[in-house]
Amino acid sequence: MISLKFSTKPLWDNKVEGYFFLLNEGFSLSSDMNKIKEDCYPKLEEIFKRHKFEGKKDQSFVLTGTYEGELVQFFFIGLGKLNTSWENVLEHFRRTIGTLVSSIKKYEINTSVLSLPSSDNFGIDSLELLKQSVITAHMADYEFSDFKSAENKNDTDKILYLISPDIDDSSARDVLKEADIIGKQVNFARHLDDLPGNMLTPKKLAEKAKDMASKTGLKFSVFGRDKAEKLGMGGFCAVDIGSEEEGQFIVLEHKVSNNVPTVVLVGKGVTFDTGGISLKPANYMTGMKYDMSGAGAVIAALGAIGHIKPNVNVIGIAPAVENMPSGKCSRQDDIITFMNGKTAEIANTDAEGRLILADALCYAEKNYNPDVIIDIATLTGACVVALGHFFTAVMSRDNSLVEKLVSAGNLSGDRLWQMPLHDDYKVAIKSKVADLSNCGSPEYSAGTITAGHFLENFVEKTPWAHLDIAGTADRVPGVNFLRSGATGVGVRLFVEFVKNI
Ligand code: BES
Ligand code: ZN
Ligand code: MG
Repeated sequence: MISLKFSTKPLWDNKVEGYFFLLNEGFSLSSDMNKIKEDCYPKLEEIFKRHKFEGKKDQSFVLTGTYEGELVQFFFIGLGKLNTSWENVLEHFRRTIGTLVSSIKKYEINTSVLSLPSSDNFGIDSLELLKQSVITAHMADYEFSDFKSAENKNDTDKILYLISPDIDDSSARDVLKEADIIGKQVNFARHLDDLPGNMLTPKKLAEKAKDMASKTGLKFSVFGRDKAEKLGMGGFCAVDIGSEEEGQFIVLEHKVSNNVPTVVLVGKGVTFDTGGISLKPANYMTGMKYDMSGAGAVIAALGAIGHIKPNVNVIGIAPAVENMPSGKCSRQDDIITFMNGKTAEIANTDAEGRLILADALCYAEKNYNPDVIIDIATLTGACVVALGHFFTAVMSRDNSLVEKLVSAGNLSGDRLWQMPLHDDYKVAIKSKVADLSNCGSPEYSAGTITAGHFLENFVEKTPWAHLDIAGTADRVPGVNFLRSGATGVGVRLFVEFVKNI
């Protein structure tokens, strides 16, 4: 694990093994770097030239030297040009922190120091830059290695000191505390998501949520099949019925008072999605352990909120089920009735996420009188086609809510892109035999949007937004600090969104 500490000492007084320098394109030597030139490498500028290091994006370079008789490493990482929009420059900054943490791991640097660049270039203040650095360093440090034997692990304790001349010690300490919480909760979400279906059944997920709640002062409750049936949750039950593992309807509550706004977060928790009797082909089924990443994001975001304790009521709802084919599972053509009395024809049992979310949205509105509801789900393969892996799709009828979410996304790094909810698409989910069909009819395409329209039927009056994270929840290529498995998408976004209320 990596620990992040704020240091008020001048760079060279920190006495560490690794010194990091983030340099923009066309940089000149700072006074701190001049010391390397004086003590170790009189021809430092020429060395940079020989190695073609110009501070360009994705360039990095290491030199070994001595400092006060000890062997130390100097790392130079390119920040690039810093001349695009602030949110792009900030995202690139996060990736340089990713490179930094990879270097710490690769060269086994137990102690290191980084003097943060001036925050002016990033459109944010120095405290926010410190916060982003700490969150990202935790994310870059994450490994899913519980099931590897010791010789295959690379996880020793390391310390990174951060320096920023215009931050005082006490504000730094507050920001660091909050950033530590957020970074660790992002990694908690990733751990839940990375756990495979045999290790994270709905019951195990509920246990882990309960355990987390007991440490953070959140109220935890859960119910299973029988109560879901009594409540008329025909959508939840239709998916749950096919599995030997009983589904769990998980609820976490951070309640402050009746005089502050209430946010409800709803996350899809399909612990494994085989498709049900509309079975997925094998190569599409691999990775379907990640189909509970919406629930993972909601549970971990509540974990962060439980620690940070903002003056907002936040409720997290995670319907958790396993979508399996069996002698008891739902069939194509089945007709089901949801908690609000609406009916749907099951055209395909693989469109199961919207069935469990439908009842969860009804439950949220009925029980919490919320000011806003946001759901998050690995809902459609179509979303991966439309947006790929870098942007989460957001859909809502409420444009001011979209704006708030998009800006929370740009700052936090969980970036969003809006897709339309428009009446033109509504006919796509009409059924001949029920109120709705759970699949959009193929001539309309736009599977991500038609799924959004399906969900819209289950929110009556509350401002609501739907997030499709099918492309962003796992296996994002080319973003070093997200590594190779789950990304924990949604946690940073939700914490930022809630804090801004
Ligand atoms: N869990 C999948 C969506 C998914 C696909 C997430 C690929 C991540 C990567 C969802 O339950 C599903 O199977 N959706 C179907 C819906 C269709 C049958 C209308 C899909 O997208 O094909
Ligand atoms: Zn699914
Ligand atoms: Mg499915």
